[in-house]
Amino acid sequence: MVSVLFVCLGNICRSPTAEGVFRDLVEREGLGDEIRIDSAGTHAYHVGSPPDARAQSEAKRRGIDISGLRGRQARTEDFKLFDYVLAMDRSNHQNLLSICPPDAQDRLAMFLDFAPDLGRREVPDPYYDGGFEPVYDMIVQAAHGLLSDIRQKHL
Ligand code: 4NP
Repeated sequence: MVSVLFVCLGNICRSPTAEGVFRDLVEREGLGDEIRIDSAGTHAYHVGSPPDARAQSEAKRRGIDISGLRGRQARTEDFKLFDYVLAMDRSNHQNLLSICPPDAQDRLAMFLDFAPDLGRREVPDPYYDGGFEPVYDMIVQAAHGLLSDIRQKHL
């Protein structure tokens, strides 16, 4: 079993979208029993909340349902439980590094590093300025790159 945790700030926009997109891809590839997927936020503002309505509607428009997901906060133990801990932006990465055990730092990466063709390392925060549509496209592209990496290294 390979495990992946997507992490953003609030766990209501980018990381639940990544969780839903990646789960959909993994299930369509028949790998649902091989890869465990979750998401979390570095902050606790939205613990227990469903994804932002705008993230839900963009996902629905693309054919996936993320309405059942609920926010939770990332914790040090996640570095024991997940093989991949993937930050959406540099600030998330810094915050995760501060709770990451020294011997688990190789589990932490930037999600968009799995989509080098995008030419950017950060998924922009859509919470204040919208932009859910381009964010969704970036996530789809990185999800494919991530699955290729998992296939090469683990399956
Ligand atoms: P996310 O977006 O990190 O992609 O879930 C945000 C959600 C909430 C806030 C900021 C970003 N907030 O400040 O409450």
